[in-house]
Amino acid sequence: MRFLRSSSCCSPLAAAFFFFFLVAVIGSTSSNLQQATKYNAMFSFGDSVAETGNICVVSSSSSNSTELEALTCTHPPYGTTNFGRPSCRWSDGRVVVDFIAQSLGLPLLPPSKSKGKDFRRGANMAITGATAMNFSFYQSLGIEDPVWNHGSLYMQIQWFTELIPSLCGTKQNCKEFLAKSLFLFGGFGGNDYNIQLLELGLTPEQTMKNTPIIVNATVNGIERLIALGAVHIVVPSILPTEHHNSMLREQVQILQRKYKSTRVMYADYYSQVYKMVQQPQKFGFSNPFEACCGAGGGKYNFDVAARCGMPGATTACRDPSARLSWDGVHPTEAVNKMIADAWLNGPYCNPPILS
Ligand SMILES: *[C@@H]1O[C@H](CO)[C@@H](O)[C@H](O)[C@H]1NC(C)=O
Ligand SMILES: *[C@@H]1O[C@H](CO)[C@@H](O)[C@H](O)[C@H]1NC(C)=O
Ligand SMILES: *[C@@H]1O[C@H](CO)[C@@H](O)[C@H](O)[C@H]1NC(C)=O
Repeated sequence: MRFLRSSSCCSPLAAAFFFFFLVAVIGSTSSNLQQATKYNAMFSFGDSVAETGNICVVSSSSSNSTELEALTCTHPPYGTTNFGRPSCRWSDGRVVVDFIAQSLGLPLLPPSKSKGKDFRRGANMAITGATAMNFSFYQSLGIEDPVWNHGSLYMQIQWFTELIPSLCGTKQNCKEFLAKSLFLFGGFGGNDYNIQLLELGLTPEQTMKNTPIIVNATVNGIERLIALGAVHIVVPSILPTEHHNSMLREQVQILQRKYKSTRVMYADYYSQVYKMVQQPQKFGFSNPFEACCGAGGGKYNFDVAARCGMPGATTACRDPSARLSWDGVHPTEAVNKMIADAWLNGPYCNPPILS
């Protein structure tokens, strides 16, 4: 997902749309020591939900010095719960990929774009604004907004392919190394729907016509990872589109049957968050709709012109762990922790990562 700029966000329909985007926990990520050594590395791909720094690396190297500054995730109170400072994550602390890395006994994944880092225990290709479709697809529809142009699914796999020689050297070594790595692929597609609904102004029915090609792009990406040697691949669903997710789930099942010696896991992000929204108290959340950070006020505490990290929106709510939504678009660390736990141990990952 992106940091929102579009003014169309403030229509009631868009607000309802974002309500699903915003919510996303508190359980404990149980560490299973027997499993902790199962994976020797982890590689992640995705959008702002999985961002751990690539957008900031890219923006700092841009000739436009205001680009980094304009990223609200580089301002307090991002990072207030964990890290104690903004860490180029769209949360008050860790994101799902961080919790999974920690549970597996791996270091937090460095952003793949950072220079001079050792990626042999993992790298995160995820970048804010990422889409399943290539940017050229949106350019052909008249989109110029550069935020979508930092790294599509296809580009992220390219980045990973370029890293491989430095990770494992010879072909035989790489085969063994990649077979013992965990891949988190996505979710992809959230921004593809954001662009179509909010920038192109398409109706939900019109965007649904594009779901097959968006899901297909994801499936093609998974197959490319398998061709590179990936064996354990987690494929998360996305918010808030049931139509997309049911198609994705079906395709994942097809891949599971097609590639018998790989383990493609379907992580049901959507169903878990949906449950939290329906029964917030059960999960320790006071209010499923109101963003913890932002100066929008009202029911959602969301206003595109007064987003978290902007002047006037630099303090968080008193207890971020009692909220689902951190900034109106992305979940709190508490939510991320619950999601990671449910992917590692079930029930929202089929099969669970640690099974
Ligand atoms: C620099 O980046 C900022 C924030 O993205 C943008 O508003 C501005 O137009 C850019 N300036 C130039 C010269 O590209
Ligand atoms: C899905 O991708 C495959 C492989 O690239 C292609 O042959 C097929 O036509 C695509 N289907 C759709 C609906 O885009
Ligand atoms: C993206 O572009 C690459 C290179 O041109 C192409 O091979 C790939 O099929 C494209 N992906 C999609 C989803 O259109």
